[in-house]
Amino acid sequence: MHYFVYKNDDLYCENVPIADIAEQIGTPFYLYSYATITRHFRVFGDAFNDLDHLTCFSVKSNSSLAILRIFALHGGGADVVSGGELFRALRAGIAPDKIVYSGVGKTLEEMKLALNSNILMFNVESDQELQLLNITAKDMGCKATIAIRINPEVEPKTHPYLATGHSENKFGIPLKDSLNTYESAKQLENIDVKGISCHIGSQLTDIDPFLEALRKLKDILKELTKMAFDIKFLNLGGGLGITYSNEKPPHPLEYAKALKEIIRKDNITLILEPGRVIIGNAGILVTRVLYTKSTKNKRFIIVDAGMNDLIRPTLYNSFHAIQPVKMTHSEMLVADLVGPVCETGDFFVKDKKMPPFKSGDLVAIMSAGAYSFSMASNYNSRPRPAEVMVKGKLFSLIRSRETYNDLIHGEVFPKFL
Ligand code: LLP
Repeated sequence: MHYFVYKNDDLYCENVPIADIAEQIGTPFYLYSYATITRHFRVFGDAFNDLDHLTCFSVKSNSSLAILRIFALHGGGADVVSGGELFRALRAGIAPDKIVYSGVGKTLEEMKLALNSNILMFNVESDQELQLLNITAKDMGCKATIAIRINPEVEPKTHPYLATGHSENKFGIPLKDSLNTYESAKQLENIDVKGISCHIGSQLTDIDPFLEALRKLKDILKELTKMAFDIKFLNLGGGLGITYSNEKPPHPLEYAKALKEIIRKDNITLILEPGRVIIGNAGILVTRVLYTKSTKNKRFIIVDAGMNDLIRPTLYNSFHAIQPVKMTHSEMLVADLVGPVCETGDFFVKDKKMPPFKSGDLVAIMSAGAYSFSMASNYNSRPRPAEVMVKGKLFSLIRSRETYNDLIHGEVFPKFL
């Protein structure tokens, strides 16, 4: 079941014509389908139904409050990596005891906020972080529940910028040192060791690296049990890929089945931190063609969204399908779809066949639910786009388009000027 479909040549999101939304709120805007989000969340969770598990949505993939509220209402947790993400997760109503906190650079203030909020646990990524967390918890008269994030040294077979579980990546504690870190954690009075965690990378389309990582965590679990640790949680992170063009990632059911074969009998709660697989294909970016122009060997379609709104193509050379909001049935033309930002890297696709877009046409940039708005910036002093959610026949603004005044928020002229 798809919720971005054509009806009589018009692209709809669920039961709303996308052109109607553009008419009312202008362009560019991000558009999310409620039915898609809830279906993805349900399918993912149901796949693990016969195992104790907790789905902690990865807030970095999409941190908009209304989106997080959906997971809160459906009993989901959150994976956060900053005080700001924790603030958002709590504001959206996600239960603190379903929040896990990863990241290699947690500050003292962030630790305090997380301890005050009674989150489920910290995924600790270095020995120094462990020491500071212990002191902070001691000062606050509480205990910090932790997992050690292990770098399992597996090859995730994804874009190098999206790999996190290699020995040369900054994330986690090397596998070979992890037992020492556990041993030192045991000596710390204000640390309560409850878990093992890892996250090996993102947009993985092959299941084997997950299985390899899980087997390695399981070996550590065995050692820890021998060392009298009471490990209750095993966190495999996120990373399951999606189809942007013709990738064939495992279905969540297949993924869950394979994981369960490894840990079914372990009497442990499995934590998962999916982001992209839930939200990636639940959102699109809608933009309008401003101009077209041709040079000797290129045809350019210039739209009103830019790399500041969606940076993935230029940052990772990643592919996002382009679709017309009004189907034309005319012959496709090879063109570059580009934005107004003053950078050669400001493109969405290059040298691809697409409908013969002309000025005023609406264009849908697909699979833009994950790492899209959440990575948007104000570069070129461009206000960030609006965000809209559709549910059935209804649509609602979930974030207003930024204004010029938003752009200068917090800026002051110093006295000496
Ligand atoms: N858990 C941790 C600790 C993570 O670092 C990440 C993503 C996730 C979970 C969620 O991974 P997912 O299920 O979404 O693959 N900006 C890049 C992706 C960076 C991913 C960073 N970590 C992109 O646009 O492709």
